[in-house]
Amino acid sequence: MHLFVWLIISLWGAVAPQYHPVEDICTAKPRDIPVNPMCIYRNPEKKESEGLGSEQGNEKIPESTNPRVWELSKANTRFAMEFYKYLADSKNDNENIFMSPLSISTAFAMTKLGACGNTLQQLMKVFRFDTISEKTSDQIHFFFAKLNCRLYKKANKSSELVSANRLFGEKSLTFNETYQNISEVVYGAKLWPLNFKEKPEQSRTLINEWIANKTEKRITDVIPEGGIDDLTVLVLVNTIYFKGHWKSEFPAQNTKRDKFYRSDGQICSTPMMYQENKFRHVSIPSDHVQVVELPYKGDDITMVLILPTMGTSLKEVEQDLTLEQLQSWLGSMKEISLSIYLPRFRIEDNFSTKKKLRDMGLVDLFSPESAKLPGIAAEGRTDLYVSDAFHKAFLEQSGLVLCGTTWRSLVYTLQPAGPGSSAQKASPLSQEGVSISQPGE
Ligand SMILES: *[C@@H]1O[C@H](CO)[C@@H](O)[C@H](O)[C@H]1NC(C)=O
Ligand SMILES: *[C@@H]1O[C@H](CO)[C@@H](O)[C@H](O)[C@H]1NC(C)=O
Ligand SMILES: *[C@@H]1O[C@H](CO)[C@@H](O)[C@H](O)[C@H]1NC(C)=O
Ligand SMILES: *[C@@H]1O[C@H](CO)[C@@H](O)[C@H](O)[C@H]1NC(C)=O
Ligand SMILES: *[C@@H]1O[C@H](CO)[C@@H](O)[C@H](O)[C@H]1NC(C)=O
Repeated sequence: MHLFVWLIISLWGAVAPQYHPVEDICTAKPRDIPVNPMCIYRNPEKKESEGLGSEQGNEKIPESTNPRVWELSKANTRFAMEFYKYLADSKNDNENIFMSPLSISTAFAMTKLGACGNTLQQLMKVFRFDTISEKTSDQIHFFFAKLNCRLYKKANKSSELVSANRLFGEKSLTFNETYQNISEVVYGAKLWPLNFKEKPEQSRTLINEWIANKTEKRITDVIPEGGIDDLTVLVLVNTIYFKGHWKSEFPAQNTKRDKFYRSDGQICSTPMMYQENKFRHVSIPSDHVQVVELPYKGDDITMVLILPTMGTSLKEVEQDLTLEQLQSWLGSMKEISLSIYLPRFRIEDNFSTKKKLRDMGLVDLFSPESAKLPGIAAEGRTDLYVSDAFHKAFLEQSGLVLCGTTWRSLVYTLQPAGPGSSAQKASPLSQEGVSISQPGE
């Protein structure tokens, strides 16, 4: 029997806050909620008694930030930078790139919750969760929840940043209760049993309707016809939506056609917005960039624009980009009066994340022979694997209203390996310099 699991991550826009069954997940302590997944990750290269991640050093943690959330956030940013480079390499120089790396990290963290062996180890490495301390890493799902709390709580003051997750499961299959519980507590993803086996098309329609409901009907038909069949066992939906208004808006009457310099050197004429105001800015001649920050209302979320200096290609800047560099740029910005010209734009992007993630080392999760996801289904089933993952994103800076609206969607599919194949898969963890054990061992 073949099984499918779809995972859909899309951006939704809604007024409702993220629902958590634990009322105060945002104030909960790790011991308050049961977040012990089936397998945990151990990197023997690290000292057992360490506090925070080895990279923490004497770094200044932003004000009122949980140091473990900060660690996780940095790991996510590292992943984002690396993923961005893989994506840039696979694209033509003139193609836009647009994505929500946090959505990708969150989605795969949800599969990590049920992963063991090399599958888990590769998830840890590729998503850079191996750069954080053991204590944070053991409770990574908890700190994801904390990170989301922080993000969504702050955001809703004046801009909308909301998220909802849901699991849809084949009703005849028993899912691991612990997986469901953690998933619900941490990601707010409650399981909704559906009859995929007998009514795949109806199930697909219902899931698409749920997504449409949660996105004010903006994201429809996410799962294409035939995307769910009688072999599907789990569909995981993660939606995130951002809508903000710039603190200092670009007056509509200032928009005029002007020159825009493309990365291939061509110059085109496009509607350029314009304003003069005080913004945080830095010019770094040695890195060949200027960086400016445009805050959204509420000052909690900002758009950071990085402009290569004349004569430097975007590619050169991209290739050298690191977390440390970005942090140093952001840290050296000063408020000055600026004249800003910005093209009015709309970016849409979609791609399969599978190939890029595989290139980055996430191999086993996508392999019918090697994937180990025993924590998702009950009865010790270990034959599931992710067959593909798609990401969709959309951003618009509209004319008069001048709001930034972002929609993103990531879809991925889990499939089982053939029967029996999992039995031969002993995980050679020690060869890789890591070991993974059951909690409590
Ligand atoms: C479910 O997963 C937990 C660990 O997360 C494990 O201890 C338990 O045995 C699993 N239950 C079943 C029925 O497989
Ligand atoms: C965020 O949204 C929730 C639910 O709509 C609301 O109760 C809360 O007051 C909002 N927070 C802020 C700071 O506006
Ligand atoms: C899962 O949650 C339910 C409801 O809160 C609880 O009754 C059950 O014991 C939990 N199961 C596990 C395995 O944690
Ligand atoms: C979508 O919203 C409509 C109207 O509120 C409701 O009747 C329907 O049950 C919802 N569908 C799903 C799948 O949530
Ligand atoms: C991306 O969008 C195009 C056109 O809308 C569509 O044909 C293609 O299948 C999409 N690709 C993915 C990976 O979703």
